[in-house]
Amino acid sequence: MRNSKYSAIIIGSGIAGLYSALKIQQGSVLPDGVLLITKSKLGESNSYYAQGGMVAVLKENKNDSVDSHVKDTIKAGAGLSELDTIRFISENSDKVVYDLLNFGVDFDRDENGKFTLTKEAAHSVNRILHSGGDATGREIEIALCRAVKENNKIKLYENTLAVDLLVTKDNSCGGVIIYGENGYEEVEAPVVVLATGGLGQLYKYTTNPVGATGDGFALAYRAGADLQDMEFVQFHPTVLAFDDEKNHNRFLISEAVRGEGAKLCDKNGVEFMAKYHEKLELAPRDIVARANFCEMRDNNVSNVYLNATVIGKEKLLKRFPTIAKKCLESGIDITKDYIPVAPAAHYFMGGVKTNLRGETSLKGLFAIGEVSSTGLHGGNRLASNSLLECVVCAYEVAEFLKNKDLTVNNDFDYDEILTKYEGEIEKNNNTDEIKSELQNIMWENVGIFRNRETLEKALEKIAELKTKFNREYLCATINEYELRNMLITAELVVKSAFNRKESRGAHYRTDYPDTGNVCEHSIINKKTIRRKDFVS
Ligand code: FAD
Ligand code: SIN
Repeated sequence: MRNSKYSAIIIGSGIAGLYSALKIQQGSVLPDGVLLITKSKLGESNSYYAQGGMVAVLKENKNDSVDSHVKDTIKAGAGLSELDTIRFISENSDKVVYDLLNFGVDFDRDENGKFTLTKEAAHSVNRILHSGGDATGREIEIALCRAVKENNKIKLYENTLAVDLLVTKDNSCGGVIIYGENGYEEVEAPVVVLATGGLGQLYKYTTNPVGATGDGFALAYRAGADLQDMEFVQFHPTVLAFDDEKNHNRFLISEAVRGEGAKLCDKNGVEFMAKYHEKLELAPRDIVARANFCEMRDNNVSNVYLNATVIGKEKLLKRFPTIAKKCLESGIDITKDYIPVAPAAHYFMGGVKTNLRGETSLKGLFAIGEVSSTGLHGGNRLASNSLLECVVCAYEVAEFLKNKDLTVNNDFDYDEILTKYEGEIEKNNNTDEIKSELQNIMWENVGIFRNRETLEKALEKIAELKTKFNREYLCATINEYELRNMLITAELVVKSAFNRKESRGAHYRTDYPDTGNVCEHSIINKKTIRRKDFVS
């Protein structure tokens, strides 16, 4: 196997991966350089598709304050968000926004050059920056990808997958086995940054692109790291309810459309949110998702509708050009027609447990962005807090690494590593079929509503699929590695959901509909599943 050495390796080219690569390169002495790998083309990520925007508590915004943002985040998080984490991320938002501008990112401004701020569900004031109207992720990604490409000190491998983390004999992470066009390579590095994003592809219906297969959770778990709150999957209430049999990825209709006044209704225009929450369409996301699901189930229909016509044609087209264009391609003129919408898996609140410096329970392994669980989101993420978490935490990892000794510790058991990934294996022709069975199982049994019976059924079915797939180490293709990771991650989600015998935030158990008195994180790792006392 080929072998190389870097001072830091970053896995993933979403906003967390790109920004951390740039900041680490900018801030540290890296004797062996920095490597950024990404499993498809540079920039393909959940980040690219982010629409609504990024929270920023700007000093110039006199209507807003850190206290107000903290309060809204705590309320949405259903008791599980951590106060110190929220405060830290909120306090650092202003600084990071201005730093992003140095890398060519910009946000929409008014005629006086001031940032325009919008509102989304459960925010009490306008505090969300956006770019390109409703294409915030795309605009940030384009700028950061350009900055990475222009930086000749960041080595870049595209179409390259992280297959397994390397764990040293003293139990720290010391590198990664990667697989790409040139086969396998063993990369040694004292700093491994997981920025691999979420797991939406575990579900039949999702807003996430095809690469969101939960690889980072599986890698961290296999290496022995702690994962936290793995039962908390966020379902977005409003995605465009059109799909074809082959492609269930669904286009997001941003919450910002409701933020600007759009109403949920049935096909006759009868609004229903008053039955579910006093904040109507701007209730927390889990509540609106469950409301839409119940309306669909009770009326035996496959979607509800979003009436955006109330916003007015001129504003609609200026604020939501991407959504307007995409809907028109499906024959819907959002200035005149109701938009058919339904819920879909969107974001993952759980993840690899970290502190605010991105450190995990495994020395040398860092996690940032959606793959991490910092304690910010708790049981339900407040809209547009994710991009903020990505950038603040990427910044902090780089700060933490400044002046650290970044020498490689290569005390691995080489023979063991080599034998696992040596040789060749025949392609498994059932991969696509198993993947789609898994997505159905997760959607039906571990979705917006779950209970003991459905979770037991899911566990049983996943075990059957694992046996059918029969891959633990060597796989034949990137697609197979993704399925291996999806099966591992799905099992972690189901086991954690099984273990949490209450309903809280996005985790709703029909057999335990009440929220328990004890509010605690759940932890899962190779050795144990446990619930950790929550300290607020
Ligand atoms: P990602 O952007 O998902 O990047 C992960 C990267 O890792 C990808 O490049 C992927 O290819 C790579 N990767 C994965 N596994 C491997 C592997 N094994 N080896 C190598 N590379 C790998 N949040 C907001 O705050 N505001 C919004 O407006 C918003 N809108 C959204 C709209 C949509 C449609 C979606 C899907 C999400 C939205 N979110 C939004 C959530 C937010 O976009 C994501 O949580 C955030 O962008 C995640 O960034 P990330 O860098 O952690 O991961
Ligand atoms: C949206 O635009 O509705 C998504 C925002 C988010 O996920 O934070």
